[in-house]
Amino acid sequence: MCFNGDLRGKKVLITAGPTREALDPVRYISNHSSGKMGYNIASAFLDRGAEVILVSGPTDRHLEARRLRLLRVVSAAEMLEACRPWFREVDIAVFAAAVADYRPADVAPQKIKKDTDEFTLRMIPNKDIAYEFGRIKAPGQYAVGFALETNDELAQATGKMNRKNLDMVVLNSLNDAGAGFGGDTNKITILTKRGTKEHFPLKSKLAVAQDILEAVVSELVNNSQAAGHAG
Ligand code: CTP
Repeated sequence: MCFNGDLRGKKVLITAGPTREALDPVRYISNHSSGKMGYNIASAFLDRGAEVILVSGPTDRHLEARRLRLLRVVSAAEMLEACRPWFREVDIAVFAAAVADYRPADVAPQKIKKDTDEFTLRMIPNKDIAYEFGRIKAPGQYAVGFALETNDELAQATGKMNRKNLDMVVLNSLNDAGAGFGGDTNKITILTKRGTKEHFPLKSKLAVAQDILEAVVSELVNNSQAAGHAG
């Protein structure tokens, strides 16, 4: 890939991968996220000269680069705390992690034994990282979230964009073959706060990451032109 340093000087926070929510010292609740999408987005931004802080849940992916700070975490709470110090300094935040919405209310200090006929697990909500950033987002900071939906996709994604104060939502529909977790391909629709909606064909996750980056860059150019006109 040829190096185009047009994002030099920009700082990007990216969350990636799943989180693991401990049940006892040997068990956890998690999901099938591979981290591919988030890592590919990180690579795309690095290739354009940006400085990237990648906060990653447990994955087998590797990435090394001079302008990359890779922070590995396990749980949703750890992911939020790892992101927090960066919220105010970044120009762009991309929330690509599949963060567990709930965690076990009690973490057993010892391995849970199978000594009962029935086992009920009480779960309590995790904080939403995208929402926490959205609450304090300053003018000029740009936030991108993902939405993985099975029904009423556009309405659900737009609702998420508003609730979390996102500027862009990348929608994956689980109704599309080849889209979503695990695989190497994805089929997305990009929605923006300005009301634009663009459907993309099924592509490799590398190509999808590039499309997302291009969409963000063109929105930033748009916003700075609008600010220029206003000023
Ligand atoms: N997200 C986050 N922190 C969470 C949950 C979600 O940062 N605790 C982010 C994801 O990284 C993604 C977006 O919010 O960018 C939407 O995540 P998703 O799980 O689809 O949405 P939820 O708000 O959890 O809604 P639901 O699971 O009910 O569809």
